[in-house]
Amino acid sequence: MSETPLLTRRPEWAALEDHRAHWQPHLRELFAADPGRAERYVVRVGDLRIDYSKHLITDETLSLLQELATATDVFGLRDAMFRGEKINITEGRAVLHTALRAPAGAVVEVDGENVVPAVHAVLDRMADFAQRVRSGEWTGHTGRRIRNVVNIGIGGSDLGPAMAYEVLRPYTDRELTVRFVSNVDGADLHEATRDLDPAETLFIVASKTFTTIETITNATSARTWLLEGLGGDEKAVAKHFVALSTNSEKVTEFGIDTANMFEFWDWVGGRYSFDSAIGLSLMIAIGADRFREMLDGFRIVDDHFRTAPAEANAPLLLGLLGVWYGNFFDAQSHAVLPYSHYLSKFTAYLQQLDMESNGKSVDREGRPVQWQTGPVVWGTPGTNGQHAYYQLIHQGTKLIPADLIGFARPVDELGDTLKAQHDLLMANLFAQGQALAFGKTADEVRAEGVAEEQVAHRTFKGNHPTTTILATALTPSVLGQLIALYEHKVFVQGAIWDIDSFDQWGVELGKVLAKRVEPALTEGADVPGLDASTAALVAAYRELRK
Ligand code: F6P
Repeated sequence: MSETPLLTRRPEWAALEDHRAHWQPHLRELFAADPGRAERYVVRVGDLRIDYSKHLITDETLSLLQELATATDVFGLRDAMFRGEKINITEGRAVLHTALRAPAGAVVEVDGENVVPAVHAVLDRMADFAQRVRSGEWTGHTGRRIRNVVNIGIGGSDLGPAMAYEVLRPYTDRELTVRFVSNVDGADLHEATRDLDPAETLFIVASKTFTTIETITNATSARTWLLEGLGGDEKAVAKHFVALSTNSEKVTEFGIDTANMFEFWDWVGGRYSFDSAIGLSLMIAIGADRFREMLDGFRIVDDHFRTAPAEANAPLLLGLLGVWYGNFFDAQSHAVLPYSHYLSKFTAYLQQLDMESNGKSVDREGRPVQWQTGPVVWGTPGTNGQHAYYQLIHQGTKLIPADLIGFARPVDELGDTLKAQHDLLMANLFAQGQALAFGKTADEVRAEGVAEEQVAHRTFKGNHPTTTILATALTPSVLGQLIALYEHKVFVQGAIWDIDSFDQWGVELGKVLAKRVEPALTEGADVPGLDASTAALVAAYRELRK
């Protein structure tokens, strides 16, 4: 077997190291020397205008980064992904979330079979079901219409629809209550159901494997809640439970008729699954047409990623910038800071997408990597962050590249008074990008008459890189575009780091240990091989709860 050369031994890597070693400029100087970068370092994809001018780069940096992308064959792996090759090597699976938004006539083959017709058949079934719920045609066991939808799932079976429901609230049927339960802490299900009428409540059990303990535990409790509320007739389950899964056997075992199951496939990774059947709760909330608009948005960026040349390929550029900071500036984290209340769960969604994909420390051949891989991704809506943690970004000791995301138009529903606040919101976004990049020099501080002993405290060194992503409005299509942009950015980075971005073995150990420890908590059972610290914690827990 021919081994891939280690990333850090490639000449393109050495060239970047050398470039970095001689890196001096401040963004103030870069802009002074080349004001044209403000227009030149902008890439447009779909409705997104992505400004990467406030980055610690020159044309030379960009060409060196692109040479690294060429050497590591990012586009070769991209093409293999789109072709349905089994690039998830540790699980022997194709990685085809892009097929979920392929147009009806497209051909995407897995093991010789075109998967696109099945994708569209499920979408059509989802659309039909969503319409029946929205119109009141689908009724509960007692004949009452469904007014509440509760999605039970975790990780990729929760974060996507939960995030998108928040983002697209203005497009939702406001008569419906839609909630998301993920935590095995019973408080989550309790709070989600305490004010609901079981007769009007539909549970959507979302689980790719249908074995995830949190989801199955919550779904079992939800069934108990429903049956208690409806007099115990088991037949009620058929009208109040549907399943989203790849595992029909387990769905049947749980007691949900497969007629009420919406299928997806093992070539859809959990964190890439939200535009599959996993999006059913969202489709019920916004309707099938809006859902399809969102898929169109995904597709715009898929097509762009597949066809745009390297120098104008947005996911490639964003991925390379992350590599530049993570591997050559030792940046440990990446902040995503949306200036939109509706994007309040967006960063949490990206955390799974990015950190579960690229939180890896062996390469595709199983060798320990000798370079940094995925960053810690974090952030909350920008203006709130400004009054909390931005201090550290501005004046702390760490380099934290950040994405600032904003929209030219507020949503119509806000009305004139609230819409008038939008300019102030966006002024904050622009001001932060400006302050982070250019800072405030000691001389500027002195010129304001500040006492000398205060000058250092009030100086902002600046030179903090940001990407500014602007779109006209936060529509379903724009949401699809944004998500696909980040999906492919994560892909690019995994390709360069030579890791399998599509498995997640790191979450398995905790699951296995939790199962092993649980009997010690419930029955005081002796768990062989339990370490001293955990054994003491278990004993303390049992003592305290008496
Ligand atoms: O925690 C790991 C994980 O496997 C995620 O990758 C996945 O999105 C989540 O659990 C939920 O899995 P499932 O959809 O099978 O319940």
